[in-house]
Amino acid sequence: MKVDGISRRPIEVASDGATVVIIDQTRLPHEFVTVNLTTMAEAAHAIRAMLVRGAPLIGATAAYGMALAMREDASDSGLASAIDTLRQTRPTAVNLFWALERMRAALHNHAPAARAAIAWAKAAEIAEEDVAINSAIGDHGLALIEAAVAARPAGSGPLNILTHCNAGWLATVDWGTALSPIYKAHDAGIDVHVWVDETRPRNQGASLTAWELGAHGVPATVVVDNAGGHLMQHGMVDLCITGTDRTTRTGDVCNKIGTYLKALAAHDNGIPFHVALPGPTIDWTVRDGVREIPIEERGGDEVGRITGRLDDGRIAAIDVLSPGARAANPAFDVTPARLVTGLITERGLCPATEAGLTSLYPEKDGPGSGERRACIRRKTGLYPEKDGPGSGESRGSNT
Ligand code: MRU
Repeated sequence: MKVDGISRRPIEVASDGATVVIIDQTRLPHEFVTVNLTTMAEAAHAIRAMLVRGAPLIGATAAYGMALAMREDASDSGLASAIDTLRQTRPTAVNLFWALERMRAALHNHAPAARAAIAWAKAAEIAEEDVAINSAIGDHGLALIEAAVAARPAGSGPLNILTHCNAGWLATVDWGTALSPIYKAHDAGIDVHVWVDETRPRNQGASLTAWELGAHGVPATVVVDNAGGHLMQHGMVDLCITGTDRTTRTGDVCNKIGTYLKALAAHDNGIPFHVALPGPTIDWTVRDGVREIPIEERGGDEVGRITGRLDDGRIAAIDVLSPGARAANPAFDVTPARLVTGLITERGLCPATEAGLTSLYPEKDGPGSGERRACIRRKTGLYPEKDGPGSGESRGSNT
C-alpha cells in the first residue's frame, strides 16, 4: 500500500540484498521510521518488542530472521538454535510457528553451505504468498460487503464496519486481512465507513488502523474500546470484521483482547461478525480455543503507561495509574465459533465450523469427514449452517 504516494511494505529486503527493512510500528502514528535488521537477534527483538506485529507479519519476520541466521551460522546447531530463539518471541500467533516449521523443512536436508541462499528464497516466497493470500481475502470479503450493501434500502448512507486492533497492511506483508476487503470496497467506489476500536493497552486501532485507513483515504472514526456495544444498539454498525492470530479447526478465533466482547455485543444485536484469516493462521491441531490456545501475558507497564505526542511536538510516555497500583495485561482472547457469523479466507467464505474449514482446505480433512462436506454442499447460501433450525446441532456434530 502507499504512504505519501510511495509503495511501502512493513517488511522488505533492503537494497543491499543482505538485510531486511521494517517499519518500526512502535513509532506510528507520530513518526514514520524504518529500521534495518542485520542479524537474527535483531529480528527476534523486533518481534518481541513489537516493532513488527500482527500474525502474518510476525511469520514473515521470523522467516527473514532465519535467512539472516543462515548467514551467521548455517550449521545444524545454528539452525536449531535460531528456530529456538525465534519460537520464543511471542506465543499466540500461530503463523510464527508455521513459518519456522516451513523454514526448517526447507533447510534441514541441505548442506550448511547451501542454506543461506535457500533461506532467503524461502522467506521471499512466504512473504509473496502472504501478499497473494491477503489480496484474495480482500476479493472474497468484497463480495460480502457488496451483498451487505445490496441488502440495505437505497440511500442508507455508508456501510458502517467495526474492526478491532490492526488487521491491516501493517499487520501483514501487504493488504491486511480484515482491512483488505475494506480497501477493495473503497477502491471499487463503495461508500464504507470504519469504526476503529482504539484497542487498549497498546492502541493498535488508534495508532495503526486509523493511520493506514487515513493514508488510503478510507473514512474512519476511532472509538474507545467500550463504545462498540452502544454503537451496535443504535444501529450504527452494519458489520464487524476482525483478524485472528490463531483459528482452531473448529472455527474458534483468538484475536486481540476485547474481540470476544465485540462478538458478544454483535450477537446480542443481530449484527454479522466476520473474521478474516489466511490459511497459515489455522492451527489444525487445536479444537478448543479457550482451553488450548496459549494467551500472551504482557507486562503491566503497557496498561499503566501511554505514549503520545505532547503539545510541543515531543513524544512522551505518561503514567496513568496511581503509583503501586497493580495491572494485568492478557493480550488476546478467544471468541468461540458460535459467535462468529463466518470466516473470510483466501479460498472463499465459510461457516466457522470444522466442516466449513475443511470444505475449503480438504487436504486438512480427517477420516470420516466426507459426510460433513456433502451435508454443507446440499444447503444453500453463504453460511448455510447458520441458516436454519438445528444449526447448533450441526456444529456440535462436527467437533
Ligand atoms: O499484539 P498484536 O498487535 O500482534 O495483535 C495483532 C492482532 O490481534 C491482529 O488482529 C491479528 O494479528 C490479525 S492480523 C492480520
